[in-house]
Amino acid sequence: MSVTGKARAVTLTEIARRKEATPIVCLTAYTTPIARLVDAHCEVVLVGDSVGMVLHGLDSTLPVTLDMMILHGKAVRRGLARALMVVDMPFGSYEESREQAFRNAARVMAETGCAAVKLEGGAKMAETIRFLTARGIPVMAHVGLTPQAVNALGGYKVQGRGDDAARILDDAVAVAEAGAFSVVLEKVTEPLARRITGEIAIPTIGIGASAACDGQVLVIDDMLGMFAGFQPKFVKRYAELGRDAEAAIAAFADDVRARHFPAAEHVFGET
Ligand code: KIV
Repeated sequence: MSVTGKARAVTLTEIARRKEATPIVCLTAYTTPIARLVDAHCEVVLVGDSVGMVLHGLDSTLPVTLDMMILHGKAVRRGLARALMVVDMPFGSYEESREQAFRNAARVMAETGCAAVKLEGGAKMAETIRFLTARGIPVMAHVGLTPQAVNALGGYKVQGRGDDAARILDDAVAVAEAGAFSVVLEKVTEPLARRITGEIAIPTIGIGASAACDGQVLVIDDMLGMFAGFQPKFVKRYAELGRDAEAAIAAFADDVRARHFPAAEHVFGET
């Protein structure tokens, strides 16, 4: 906080300085109320395409559209005063060409007010990352398990246990050299996360990738116990909001069925 009480916005320079220093805290957010809650505690807030599975009931992130990301990005932006906001580029919005990626990323930045975009893929996305960063679009990269490639990867499996370790290291080096300001390492083994973090100059942000990263990200609904779907083993649940909400809803239903309306009795009692 500054002396005026206004929160100072986290900058890309500050994120870069966190390399091998104080870990970077990152959570996803998709709505204004959640953005307000996470803002004071996170350096980075990610409007992840996980929104499709978490809030829209989709089976994967593949059907998520640019319009969905922009709508949720705008909502999150309204709730942030401090944290650096990153918006995911959805499947199909950036892979075709660097020009397509620029056009869509520029739209995301202009319409949501985010500070950066995130896109999945390593060496094969390096040219696009170079093109975007050279034109004023900061990029967070994402390697290891890349959920948009779930079909090609054969599921949401741990990456880097075998021969693929060298490729994932090359991917991380390629995106760092192309100008990404940070890289998400998803579901890679601890030795590989440690090696990548030691070898590249930009911060690594892990999700299911051990503590050997420069920061950590979780899907907010997972860590709050709100998401009833598949729960990855690496997620620590810090609350059981889904269970508590269900108990509250059941209590309300019991009250209604018993014609017990304390609020209404209170109001009518006063008049
Ligand atoms: O979409 C998302 O929420 C993500 C994080 C899991 C890193 O990409």
